[in-house]
Amino acid sequence: MIERSSSPEGAPRPGGGGPTGADADGRDLVRAEAAALERAAEGALRPKDLGEFVGQTRVREQLSLVLDAASARGRSPEHMLLSGPPGLGKTTLAMIIARELGAPLRITSGPAVQHAGDLAAILSSLEEGEVLFIDEIHRLARPAEEMLYMAMEDFRVDVVVGKGVGATAIPLELPPFTAVGATTRAGLLPSPLRDRFGFTGHLDFYSAAELAQVIERSAGRLEIAVDPDAAHEIASRSRGTPRIANRLLRRVRDFAEVRGTGDITIDSALEALRVYEVDQRGLDRLDRAVISALCTKFGGGPVGLSTLAIAVGEETETVETVVEPFLVREGLLGRTPRGRIATPAAWEHLGLAAPPQSAQWGAQPALTDDPGDDIGLGRFA
Ligand SMILES: Nc1ncnc2c1ncn2[C@@H]1O[C@H](COP(=O)(O)OP(=O)(O)O)[C@@H](O)[C@H]1O
Ligand SMILES: [Mg+2]
Repeated sequence: MIERSSSPEGAPRPGGGGPTGADADGRDLVRAEAAALERAAEGALRPKDLGEFVGQTRVREQLSLVLDAASARGRSPEHMLLSGPPGLGKTTLAMIIARELGAPLRITSGPAVQHAGDLAAILSSLEEGEVLFIDEIHRLARPAEEMLYMAMEDFRVDVVVGKGVGATAIPLELPPFTAVGATTRAGLLPSPLRDRFGFTGHLDFYSAAELAQVIERSAGRLEIAVDPDAAHEIASRSRGTPRIANRLLRRVRDFAEVRGTGDITIDSALEALRVYEVDQRGLDRLDRAVISALCTKFGGGPVGLSTLAIAVGEETETVETVVEPFLVREGLLGRTPRGRIATPAAWEHLGLAAPPQSAQWGAQPALTDDPGDDIGLGRFA
C-alpha cells in the first residue's frame, strides 16, 4: 500500500524539506495529516468532552447514547470504530470516550504493533474497563489482527510460548475492555474485524460555519482575538478539516503578531493567507500548479498522470496521493480512463474561459476521502 509521504512516519515528501518550525512546513500547510511536531500544539486544542466537540451531530448523538447506556448498565460499552479522513477528530473522540467513561486510556496504532506478541503484551496488561485506542487499525499485521478478533470477542488471548514443535498456546483471560479503532480507510478493514465493533461512527468533512466555531474556540484557548469575519475566512479555506483550520489559525496569528498588533482582523487574515499562498478554496501553490498545468499546457486534458507530474516537477506519487484527492473532492479535477481532466470549475477557479469541450466533464461531485480509491473512473468509464 502506498504510504502518504506527508504522514509523520512516512518518508519526507519528494523535493520537500522536513518540518522547519513548530509544526507543518510551508508546503504542507493545507495537508490534513499531522506534521511531526504538530502534536503538542494539537493536544492543547482538543475538546475534552462531547459538549465541546463541534459539529458531527449525528455521530455525537449516537456516541452519547452508547456511552450513557453503558454507564447506566455499569458495564464497558461495546467496541467502537471511528472512520473518516485525517484531521476530522478521530483521536479527539477516542480521548473523549475514555474521559466520558472515566476510564483509563491506552493508545497504540496499527504500524506500532509489529508482531502479535506486541499486542499480547498490551492486551494482557489492560485494566478492567480500560479503553484501548488503536489508531490506523487497518495497518495492523495479520497475526495481530487475528489475535485482536479473539480478544475483542471472547476477552481472551492465546500467548504462544516456545518455538517450533514444542510451542504451546497458553490461554489468558482478559478483563473486559473497550477497543476503539480509528481508520482513514474503513474499506480496507477485513469484515471479521469490522464485525466485532458494536458501533461505527463515520466522520464527515465540516461546514465552513462549523470550522469558524472551531477557530473561535481555539482562538479563545490561545488567547488570540479573532474577528468573526476573519474566523469565517480562515474556515472557508480549511478544506472542511479542523486540523487545517487550527493550523491556519496559528500561522495567521504569527503573521498578525509580526506584522501587526497580534489581533486577527479580516485584513490581516487575508494578507497572511496571501503570503502563505492558500487561496479562497484552500488550494496551495502545488494544487494550483497542477490544475494550471492541466488547463494551460494540456488544454484541460485528458493527460496521463505521469506527464502531469513531470509538468509540475513533482513525483507521480505525490501528485496522485497528496494533491489529487482534494482536487477531485472539490470537483476541479477528474480521473478518466484516458487521463486527468480539468472540469469547468477548474478553469473558472483559475479565472480562465473554459473551452467548450470541457463542458462534457461537468461538475464532479465531492466524493472521496480516500486517495487510494479510483473515484471518477466509474463515472467516465
Ligand atoms: N469537532 C471538533 N471540534 C473541535 N476541534 C476539533 C474537532 N475535531 C478535530 N478537532 C481538532 O483538530 C485537530 C485534529 O483532530 P484529531 O482528533 O487529531 O484528528 P484525526 O485523529 O481524525 O486525524 C485536533 O487539534 C483537534 O482538537
Ligand atoms: Mg488521529
